[in-house]
Amino acid sequence: MDNTEMKNIQWFPGHMAKTRRMIKSNLSLVDAVAELLDARTPLSSRNPEMDSMTSGKPRIVLLNKCDVADEASTKKWISWFGSRGITALPVDCKSGRGLKSFLPALKNDVLRDLMKKRIENGMSGAPIRIMVVGIPNVGKSSFINRMAGSKRAKVEDRPGVTRTKQWVKLENNVELLDMPGVLWPKFDDQKSAVKLAFTGAISDGILDIETLAMKLLVFLSENYPDSLKNRYGVEAAEDDGGLELLEKVGRRRGMVISGGEINTERAAITVLDEFRSGKLGRITLELPDEE
Ligand code: G4P
Repeated sequence: MDNTEMKNIQWFPGHMAKTRRMIKSNLSLVDAVAELLDARTPLSSRNPEMDSMTSGKPRIVLLNKCDVADEASTKKWISWFGSRGITALPVDCKSGRGLKSFLPALKNDVLRDLMKKRIENGMSGAPIRIMVVGIPNVGKSSFINRMAGSKRAKVEDRPGVTRTKQWVKLENNVELLDMPGVLWPKFDDQKSAVKLAFTGAISDGILDIETLAMKLLVFLSENYPDSLKNRYGVEAAEDDGGLELLEKVGRRRGMVISGGEINTERAAITVLDEFRSGKLGRITLELPDEE
């Protein structure tokens, strides 16, 4: 990534090594791993070492925040994971939509062999234990709260604050292992880092907010032009770059400062906030065939 654009990265080798170690050492306690990804960025929100860290364990992918992702793109991702032998489900942990399929998919699909073996051995009552993993802000707490059916207090993953692993018991003899430790996303190439910054998965401090909004507006004008037309009444002219689009949004929203200049910082904050909260529509930032 370009050093002039990137200000800091909040992932440190020490934290990474600790998290990696913790995942590996707890893997023997669980039957499967549930990996939460952001449906808008299924590859960029993926931990690049997840495959190697959890090798040999059955895995289910939950494409979370599917309420703000493009439905057709989510279907493509589900097929893409399926073609790699991974069961993936679209879920919305904010409303709970899609979560009814989680336990049936686990038992009938991901853990089918284990379930069969347990029945044969008269062990069908044994608990099913699942490790829940995902990068910060992907919706891990929302998922666990929804599954547990009650609001559990969110415990922050702050450096210096020790958090122990927690088992959360669900109905039907299922237990979720909520792992402490911060799992880092795929931020080692600029494209992924920018997409993660669009969704707010990595802090705004990484890129200047106006640069970020300009990049997002260019992406939207090329891939989801209706989102700009419907929300801001903005149509991109052929030679419009990010700055022109940002100014158009600012002008439409009356964000003018002295001398008729557009307050592009305010416009940038508006665009990013509205994108993140889904007000620009359901938008996916990467597709399997691009990768
Ligand atoms: P984490 O434990 O992985 O760090 O994530 P957490 O559950 O705290 O969720 C991070 C943010 O993502 C929260 O928003 C949460 O509401 C939102 N979120 C989780 N799942 C979904 C989903 O399926 N769809 C959408 N649209 N949002 C989701 P927040 O603004 O930080 O908190 P809040 O104001 O919503 O409570």
